[in-house]
Amino acid sequence: MVLTYFISPLNAAVKNYMCIQITDVWCFLPIEVGDFLALDLGGTNFRVMLVKVGEDEERSFKVETKNQMYSIPEDAMTGTAEMLFDYIAECMSDFLDKHHIKHKKLPLGFTFSFPVRHEDIDKGILLNWTKGFKASGAEGNNVVGLLRDAIKRRGDFEMDVVAMVNDTVATMISCYYEDRSCEVGMIVGTGCNACYMEEMRTVELVEGEEGRMCVNTEWGAFGDNGELEDFRLEYDRVVDEASINPGHQLYEKLISGKYMGELVRLVMMKLVNEDLLFNGEASELLKTRGSFETRYVSQVESDTGDRKQIYNILSSLGVLPSELDCDIVRLVCESVSTRSAHMCAAGLAGVINLMRERRSEEAMKITVGIDGSVYKLHPCFRDRFHKVVRDLTPHSDITFIQSEEGSGRGAALISAVACKMATNLF
Ligand code: BG6
Ligand code: GLC
Repeated sequence: MVLTYFISPLNAAVKNYMCIQITDVWCFLPIEVGDFLALDLGGTNFRVMLVKVGEDEERSFKVETKNQMYSIPEDAMTGTAEMLFDYIAECMSDFLDKHHIKHKKLPLGFTFSFPVRHEDIDKGILLNWTKGFKASGAEGNNVVGLLRDAIKRRGDFEMDVVAMVNDTVATMISCYYEDRSCEVGMIVGTGCNACYMEEMRTVELVEGEEGRMCVNTEWGAFGDNGELEDFRLEYDRVVDEASINPGHQLYEKLISGKYMGELVRLVMMKLVNEDLLFNGEASELLKTRGSFETRYVSQVESDTGDRKQIYNILSSLGVLPSELDCDIVRLVCESVSTRSAHMCAAGLAGVINLMRERRSEEAMKITVGIDGSVYKLHPCFRDRFHKVVRDLTPHSDITFIQSEEGSGRGAALISAVACKMATNLF
């Protein structure tokens, strides 16, 4: 129970205070209907989407998407900003060709899932890269400007970039159109983060007292000022030191898919070195950083009990496990992923309890829109996570909605409102 209180999500939010001018009236504003392009950078894959936004008779929004995934090559992730954005523009060009829409100047919504200081709906300064990205020359600059420059450099298509949003915000907005109680957006995937609707009166950086606005907590950075020292283990320290951003995103490094497999590998290596696993011998592959991928954690925990799946994974890594080895490896996976689910639950419970307190509500009904590969693909994460969130928020009635195509739909819907506002048609 004590976990509820050790996370104060606002610590992270106050430090960065990444507010976006999306208020609770935003979703009631008129929208522009038509085709939008949406980009999604920051998850496992880069995605380009064509989103058709329409209204049906009841004025609820119909959104249809076509999308294509592109993997970002390592040299684009860690080279220069120009290389990265040129690659993004190249993928966009390919997508437009494939759908025969290169001649159209479409409005574009950009889901950019990194810490950003928003100066406008279409202007955000990248504060720092996370999740293994490190393209030089981007931090401190307006990301939309970098994208516009890359499109101009190519010169083979035009695009009207109207909005940039975080993936948590896009997820929340896309779920909000289905369920008007959705006031929290969350991602548990390569990274981990949440946004929520905060009372305007408590948001110091923005004028106005009435209503609510969206705050991106960037809670992955919680712990960077020492708050998690009592909880971090030797494996967490090794993962952090070997990462591209040591000392940063420490809460995220306990939870997210970018690090989970490596944590399991480090625990296994410790057991090998103590002669407790694989007869004290590891293969060269198992000794290699990153060789135990996060998807293996899900696969090990999905094993039906005959240990076949666990055996196959371990033998593909060059070790020949006994039955006991397989059981130990499963236990290691369960421990790491359960810790992740509980840590993450503590963060969300902290946010929900804070929202309830701010609203002075006896019992609060709230919906959380959620996405990300760990949440969606791990066989037990979701149940363990839901249970602990509910245990820690006894006065709230919480519904979880798994977002489908949330980032594309959310970015397009936000762009659809921004377009209408820009044309002053209401
Ligand atoms: C996707 C969203 O479904 O989930 C992305 O469209 C988001 O915006 C992603 O970043 C997070 O999951 P992962 O596992 O791809 O990092
Ligand atoms: C990282 C990013 C954050 C994003 C999260 C999930 O924590 O900093 O902006 O929302 O990953 O993708």
